[in-house]
Amino acid sequence: MKQDDLKKQAAEAALAYVKGGIIGIGTGSTVNHFIDALAGIKGCIEGAVSSSESSTERLRRHGIPVFDLNAVGELDLYVDGADESNHRLELIKGGGGALTREKIVAAASRTFVCIADESKLVEVLGRFPLPVEVIPMARGYVARELVQLGGTPVWREGFVTDNGNLILDVQNLEITDPKGLEQRINNIAGVVTVGIFALRPADVLILGSAQGPRTII
Ligand code: 5RP
Repeated sequence: MKQDDLKKQAAEAALAYVKGGIIGIGTGSTVNHFIDALAGIKGCIEGAVSSSESSTERLRRHGIPVFDLNAVGELDLYVDGADESNHRLELIKGGGGALTREKIVAAASRTFVCIADESKLVEVLGRFPLPVEVIPMARGYVARELVQLGGTPVWREGFVTDNGNLILDVQNLEITDPKGLEQRINNIAGVVTVGIFALRPADVLILGSAQGPRTII
């Protein structure tokens, strides 16, 4: 099966977690499949809180109402993809550059269901370059600090986040202490968010595979 078919399989399996109300929605190609599947049961939900302009646009195209997070309380469910997950469901996210809003909506949700194809499951995080959202004037300073941590930061040139910031993709990191590194990078002045989701990991990981969807809790 193609990778995109496995993403679709995981996305459709996540519909089982939808019990109504307002759903938190992540960003990316796997989430796009989830939004399309959600459209088929849109009469059963009140709407969504979105983590990016692109997901908002897709939700609205399907006629799913999009709410501001400030206008709603805690969410029951957040569904999002990932670039990597380890077996503790600690993630690397931000390949699509939406990491900051994704982290906010994940933090505001009781249950985080992560959907991905099985290639995203790894023993140790870090093969995927770690995205870091940075305030533009701090780009050089933050890059030097990331080098001190052993990484090789690469500026994602020409890309601006929905928040008007920049992304540094950090290569060559072997992330053996995801929580510690998340705190350490988040504490660098000028960093908005690092794409490690370990302090608030996923609660459920659904992996699309040739044998059918596999769930890790
Ligand atoms: C966007 C993300 C995505 O969830 C991540 O990049 C996975 O994307 P895809 O579903 O396209 O493989 O974190 O910021």
